[in-house]
Amino acid sequence: MKIAAVGKGNVGGGLADLWEKAGHEVTRIGQDGGDVSDADAVLVAVPGGAIADALEKVQGIEGKTVVDATNLVGAAPPDGFASNAEFVKSKTNGPTAKSFNLNFARLYDQLGQQKNRPSNIWTGDEEAREVVEQLIRDAGYDPIYAGGLENASTQEQGIGLIFAISQATGPFLYRMAPPGEL
Ligand SMILES: NC(=O)c1ccc[n+]([C@@H]2O[C@H](COP(=O)([O-])OP(=O)(O)OC[C@H]3O[C@@H](n4cnc5c(N)ncnc54)[C@H](OP(=O)(O)O)[C@@H]3O)[C@@H](O)[C@H]2O)c1
Repeated sequence: MKIAAVGKGNVGGGLADLWEKAGHEVTRIGQDGGDVSDADAVLVAVPGGAIADALEKVQGIEGKTVVDATNLVGAAPPDGFASNAEFVKSKTNGPTAKSFNLNFARLYDQLGQQKNRPSNIWTGDEEAREVVEQLIRDAGYDPIYAGGLENASTQEQGIGLIFAISQATGPFLYRMAPPGEL
């Protein structure tokens, strides 16, 4: 797959490395912006409060399948939107998913060393399922579907719980599974 990572920091750069190891071709885009016309999938991994500014500097994103990994730490979604993911969709009118926002980038290099595959929660459009679930698996997680894009705001708020737990445990992995599959 051709992937464009908008944001090339801990998350964007880290996932780009994992996806390249899995055989994908990744273009990394930073604050200067860039063109994503060639991409089959676009990752958005910029500071949550900078999402509107970041998307303005990206060309060719209309209709693209986008995976939004942002968290709103001390920031709100753009006016009129319940979530950053829904804001993204308003700009692209393409398949949109929220994912990777509830997983610590600091642990990306340890995903392959676990007894069981860690989970990665996503919400979003059915049309985004094939792409986002492949990208989740190719990064080293198992996907957990949590409903449509209308649930993205609940997923974004979930970062509060993740941070609260990490105060006690430090960065952690988790796995959600039906009984018998843990
Ligand atoms: N760190 C984690 O464990 C983690 C986990 C899940 C989700 N998240 C979320 O993922 C997002 C990225 O986190 P991160 O830790 O990867 O941050 P980071 O290391 O600080 O990287 C941020 C990236 O965003 C780019 N950027 C900053 N402001 C921008 C703007 N106005 N327009 C365009 N690009 C801009 C930066 O570009 P330059 O490289 O050009 O400076 C950089 O590549 C955040 O929303 C964060 O809350 C983080």
